[in-house]
Amino acid sequence: MARLPVAVLISGRGSNMAALVAAAAEPAFPAEIVAVIANRPDAAGLATAAGAGIPTAVVDHKRFAGKPAFEAALSDEIARHGAALICLAGFMRIVSADFVARWRGQVLNIHPSLLPSFPGLDTHARALAAGVRLHGCTVHFVDAEVDAGPIVAQAAVPVLPGDDAETLAARVLAAEHRLYPRALALVASGKVRREGDRAVISSDAGAAATAMLMAPS
Ligand code: GRF
Repeated sequence: MARLPVAVLISGRGSNMAALVAAAAEPAFPAEIVAVIANRPDAAGLATAAGAGIPTAVVDHKRFAGKPAFEAALSDEIARHGAALICLAGFMRIVSADFVARWRGQVLNIHPSLLPSFPGLDTHARALAAGVRLHGCTVHFVDAEVDAGPIVAQAAVPVLPGDDAETLAARVLAAEHRLYPRALALVASGKVRREGDRAVISSDAGAAATAMLMAPS
């Protein structure tokens, strides 16, 4: 079985990247992580990836005069590793419409909320302020707007009495680590495809494959 070559883009801790790397260590997993690329030389996840034997690279946005030059270098680095799909995993640079067009239908992101609720930053504090009872995370194809694009898979977690942003973030992060490998497997195996503005689930995958409910941890 040919495994889909994937580049994972990070900016920091890289715990979602580590979850993808761990899943792809399984020979039957339909994707292979061919590179982990950071836009910050101090991203802690770089050492984690190198420790797992994954090629790493840094494309430091600060070394480029502007976004077009940075993204051209980023695309070159991704292409150099032969990646056919890009997983953004805590990558803290907003990608441009040009980058999205260059990799159309080939970029996934994980966002720590049930989109379309709470795009952007500080999702856990905002969920608490809004008083929602369910919160969670979303894996979606990346479009030019921030935290938008066809939804591949979602996981919901309860908001519990006494939660603060930190306890809620930890519960969501545990769900992220389960959801992202599962969503990547669905895309890499062709069970979820991007068709225009929708992510379409093939009948043999079943709609339940893209939705998860987590028990309180
Ligand atoms: C995750 O919560 C992810 O959803 C968000 O940024 C965080 C990154 O964490 N985009 P990590 O670097 O994967 O540990």
